[in-house]
Amino acid sequence: MAAAEMSLLKPIKPITRFGAPTAVRRPTSLVRMSSVAATAPPKPKPKPKKGGGKSEIQETLLTPRFYTTDFDEMEALFNTQMNKNLNEAEFEALLNEFKTDYNQTHFVRNKEFKEAADKLEGPLRQIFVEFLERSCTAEFSGFLLYKELGRRLKKTNPVVAEIFSLMSRDEARHAGFLNKGLSDFNLALDLGFLTKARKYTFFKPKFIFYATYLSEKIGYWRYITIYRHLKANPEYQCYPIFKYFENWCQDENRHGDFFSALMKAQPQFLNDWKAKLWSRFFCLSVYVTMYLNDCQRTAFYEGIGLNTKEFDMHVIIETNRTTARIFPAVLDVENPEFKRKLDRMVEINKKLIAVGESQDIPFVKNLKKIPHVATLASEILAAYLMPPIESGSVDFAEFEPKLVY
Ligand SMILES: [Fe+2]
Ligand SMILES: [Fe+2]
Repeated sequence: MAAAEMSLLKPIKPITRFGAPTAVRRPTSLVRMSSVAATAPPKPKPKPKKGGGKSEIQETLLTPRFYTTDFDEMEALFNTQMNKNLNEAEFEALLNEFKTDYNQTHFVRNKEFKEAADKLEGPLRQIFVEFLERSCTAEFSGFLLYKELGRRLKKTNPVVAEIFSLMSRDEARHAGFLNKGLSDFNLALDLGFLTKARKYTFFKPKFIFYATYLSEKIGYWRYITIYRHLKANPEYQCYPIFKYFENWCQDENRHGDFFSALMKAQPQFLNDWKAKLWSRFFCLSVYVTMYLNDCQRTAFYEGIGLNTKEFDMHVIIETNRTTARIFPAVLDVENPEFKRKLDRMVEINKKLIAVGESQDIPFVKNLKKIPHVATLASEILAAYLMPPIESGSVDFAEFEPKLVY
């Protein structure tokens, strides 16, 4: 997983604050993770220092989430006796691809990292740290979910289970690499602590498929877009982690393709009117969450020479086109009205943030938020109700376009 951009689906919870000494401490969990990423390159010793310029980690509505699901239902879905749609040859082929482990030796650091980090100063340094933290959390979230699925499906479907385990290997590597990046800034996320301390969002298997598919594909498009942009504009290459994105995003792409195969094996999740409504809903949640998140962090994108909104729209359009190959319906994101709606949401969100940061007592703040929340909700609903695009997998015979002469 790359971008666990599903946070809008969560009910608002009180903000949990982790003090620096708790969240930023020796990353013992890296050792635990390396047992999963057994084939990962040897890791240099982390050198975290307490409170190295980092004061706290906030958990808010838009932070990456951890997920859990109904594992019994998952087992039933992947039982080859019960589900005749499971194309075992296709999963065997996918498994072989994961076993090939294309990126086994890819994530090796060099001295450029620390040197580049030392040069980053002021607000850009702060925003880089936040980028590393959020990305690491999102990757780690994928690691936890896939690892558990790998464990739970072992008996019913060993092939699918092994793919999940190998995907968790990839995500552990990604999270570990980002955490090493944090060590360049004298910080480390305590992933073991996060595993226990974070709240888990429950999604039924069907929703896990939609959400993780989108997460993987949007992650792919984000990474490849940043990579290509920095390759063309090397003067913005201010931290070497981006050089790794080309191969890295191929992992995310493969993960997405695996979910695509999983969904094809569960046609009941793709072929009715409910599936169409949910597909659009998940697309919208993922796109809106990313857009609002990124528009709060324009300093980061501008710092690497990107225009935040243009970057996001490119990622949304590409992700949507990819998603249209499998989801039965997607949003018409290329309609200029869609972007206008997103931009209005950003403005409303700014007002909400301003209320949140004001000096008012919580009761008054909540009262002042009501009209903005209502406008935001109606804007989101209007975007959801825009005429959708009927789509679907070209691999399904019933969807096969007929040639007309
Ligand atoms: Fe990943
Ligand atoms: Fe992934």
